[in-house]
Amino acid sequence: MYHYGNFSQNFLWGVSSSAYQIEGAWREDGKGLSIWDKFTHTPGKISEHDTGDVACNSYNKMEDDIAALKKVKVSHYRFSISWPRILPDGTTKYINQAGLNYYKKLLDSLIAANIEPQVTLYHWDLPQALQDVGGWENETIIERFKEYADVLFENLGPKVKLWITFNEPFVITVLGHVQGAHAPGLNDRPDTLPYIVGHNIIKSHAEAWHVYNDKYRASQGGLVSITVNSDWAEPRNPYKQEDYEAARNVFYLGWWAHPIFNGDYSPLVKKSVLDQSLAGGLTKSRLPEFTPEEIKRINGTYDYFGLNHYCSVLAFPVDFGTTQHFEADRGVVVISDRTWLETGSVWLRMTPFGLRRLLKFIKDEYRNPPIIITENGVSENGPVDLNDVHRKYYYEKYINQVLKAYLLDDVNIIGYTAWSLLDNLEWGVGYTERFGLFYVNRTDPDLPRTPKASVSFYSSIISCNGFPDPASGPQECWNPTPTIQNVWSNSTETTQEAQVESMCQLNRSCFLLTSISLFKYLLANTTSGYLSN
Ligand code: GAL
Repeated sequence: MYHYGNFSQNFLWGVSSSAYQIEGAWREDGKGLSIWDKFTHTPGKISEHDTGDVACNSYNKMEDDIAALKKVKVSHYRFSISWPRILPDGTTKYINQAGLNYYKKLLDSLIAANIEPQVTLYHWDLPQALQDVGGWENETIIERFKEYADVLFENLGPKVKLWITFNEPFVITVLGHVQGAHAPGLNDRPDTLPYIVGHNIIKSHAEAWHVYNDKYRASQGGLVSITVNSDWAEPRNPYKQEDYEAARNVFYLGWWAHPIFNGDYSPLVKKSVLDQSLAGGLTKSRLPEFTPEEIKRINGTYDYFGLNHYCSVLAFPVDFGTTQHFEADRGVVVISDRTWLETGSVWLRMTPFGLRRLLKFIKDEYRNPPIIITENGVSENGPVDLNDVHRKYYYEKYINQVLKAYLLDDVNIIGYTAWSLLDNLEWGVGYTERFGLFYVNRTDPDLPRTPKASVSFYSSIISCNGFPDPASGPQECWNPTPTIQNVWSNSTETTQEAQVESMCQLNRSCFLLTSISLFKYLLANTTSGYLSN
């Protein structure tokens, strides 16, 4: 059911992008190499051998991007800074002025277009030179990240009011350091590495927040936070208590949000890792501990809650025996309901109801923080069709759920950001999955941006600041999308399964599948398997 109404007067409406996915110019003007440059150039890592060498060439096509943003009529634009473009070897030994100038120009152009920037410090493209000395595993990274943040706040801070330290620590940790499906491609220590990496990310975030708080907040008056990603997890079987518990033990949010919003790792995360460590014969937990001083320093290092959300999952528990592995610690497998509407990405099925539930969960769990949705969106693959009915459908239904959370559940939601401005490099699946409001024709060397039908649709929701009641008179700002049957005209379960087969390379789409195959492997190798119960 629709809910009619408006968001708050100064609600932030935006679209999002990230440096590696759009900028290109991978070796221009003194930029250093990142772990994604190296990863995409490693054979077999990315679908179709795609790379971000050129991407959407946003480094050289700033005017086109600003024109696209103006067309959507957003109030803010979220983009990320390429760390090696500013600090080629990751350290402040040498600051690349050309890199800083590029971002200064981008910020000036946005401000001139009356678009507020929201800047992410780290959207996954670590300088390769830092990876060479251990990357997020080496705790000296905390000092490096702090110095990098300081350089950005000092040089760009006067033009920025909204900052995000990290995009999606869960994905950095699990896809990059457990599965190896993302750069830096590590999967050799799934028992310990995610926790070491996660620990250093949380501390790095906190240090960057303190730098801003101590040195820049008074003069610049901006907000700094972190963006965590979370699916909404429902129990696979609503009649089973253990499925409810599994749905609460997926580790998406609490691993990060609990130390930052409530102080220390959550009791649930601590207990899960400890129990599994002891079951494996260890004498203590594989989860590192924060000292009391660290807990104090990390707690409260937020100015709002940044949330990326795409879909929901069904969770159920699995006993992995004594296996020492991140997946065994959470002891959960997630699947989709096959009745949920499919998209261009196998991991993403349309489940608008989950967003409202997740927002209410955040309100209750973290004492009603102001929330900015920093990513939400949907993909297609296959032939190009600029009439992207599925995307209109997705945005309408999801944003309406956000409105319900705001008006009916009193969630303090202050902004919404669509992913993404452009069809861009979708990490492990290259350019095959397209999340953009604008189509980028990759067969034309000029990479022109063409609006899909969803541009004017999203723009009309922005102009209306929500969904005004049609009963209040004729309105030009927004019209409902077609019914669900018309969203994918030629969609069948078989095509979706075929997509799964063809897309199951080492990429994010296989997160679900790798969990399941790990599960199957463990079943075959343990006597106390789930199926035997
Ligand atoms: C997010 C990520 C984005 C984009 C999006 C769609 O996890 O932050 O960069 O790739 O997913 O898959």
